[in-house]
Amino acid sequence: MTISVTKLTDAIGAEIGDVDLSNPLAADTVADIRQALLDHCVIFFRDQELSDDDLMRIGRYFGELQPLPPHRQFPGLYPEILVVEKKPEDVINFGWEWHSDTSHLPVPSLGSILYAIEVPKTGGDTMFANQYLAYDTLPDEMKEKLAGMKAVHANGRIHNTLKNNRIPEQGEEVESATYSDAWSTHPIVRTHPETGRKALYVNLTHTESIEGMSVAESQDLLHYLYEHSTQDAFTCRFKWRKGSVTFWDNRSCQHAALNDYPGEYRLMHRVQVKGTPPF
Ligand code: SIN
Repeated sequence: MTISVTKLTDAIGAEIGDVDLSNPLAADTVADIRQALLDHCVIFFRDQELSDDDLMRIGRYFGELQPLPPHRQFPGLYPEILVVEKKPEDVINFGWEWHSDTSHLPVPSLGSILYAIEVPKTGGDTMFANQYLAYDTLPDEMKEKLAGMKAVHANGRIHNTLKNNRIPEQGEEVESATYSDAWSTHPIVRTHPETGRKALYVNLTHTESIEGMSVAESQDLLHYLYEHSTQDAFTCRFKWRKGSVTFWDNRSCQHAALNDYPGEYRLMHRVQVKGTPPF
């Protein structure tokens, strides 16, 4: 092993030490980091000093980068850099509810790498939940029921929230499809292409309905799965410091950014590594 790996909780997450990400990484170090990601679903690095070029170089060790769509790009920055910013006057934060990144796309993200540039004095932690455990702990009858089922994913809930500057109540999801600009249908239980393990793949932010059912008819089963999949026993909570880096696997975990720092500033830059179609 070229790196140190220290588990954050039994369920998910590990802190990686003995690596300076601002330097080019040797192939065996990259392989060890990839293995740690596969083993722990999300990995954390501390006290790094990275430029956007570094962030993109790190992402490219793990696959092709997924540039932002033109209307989402940030002027003056590379198309691959997503700015995650909350200003003191903002009410809503980016990624406020449990989700797996870009599950509304036909080819969703493999993983995201987020680098902390400014953090609030308190709060602003990020939660992660292990979706292998979420699947493994379902009752057998539920596993049988879900086998072969697909869900429709879209971006409507996000649009709806930003438009109204408030998070919809449960049940208001029926409205969200109206605002969607991209749709995809994915298996509710996906197989991780590298580990071969099964993971639950629905999330409150993007999943609209179960294929073949209306949005309203889908809600009972989806909300059962959302609650089951994000229970405390499957999670870890990461406390950011300036210079922290997090790399999560969108194929095996969900995440949610806590919005508990009103009046404070938080700034991060993120790159997205492109995945493969879920199966
Ligand atoms: C996200 O990428 O969903 C945001 C995570 C965070 O800001 O902690």
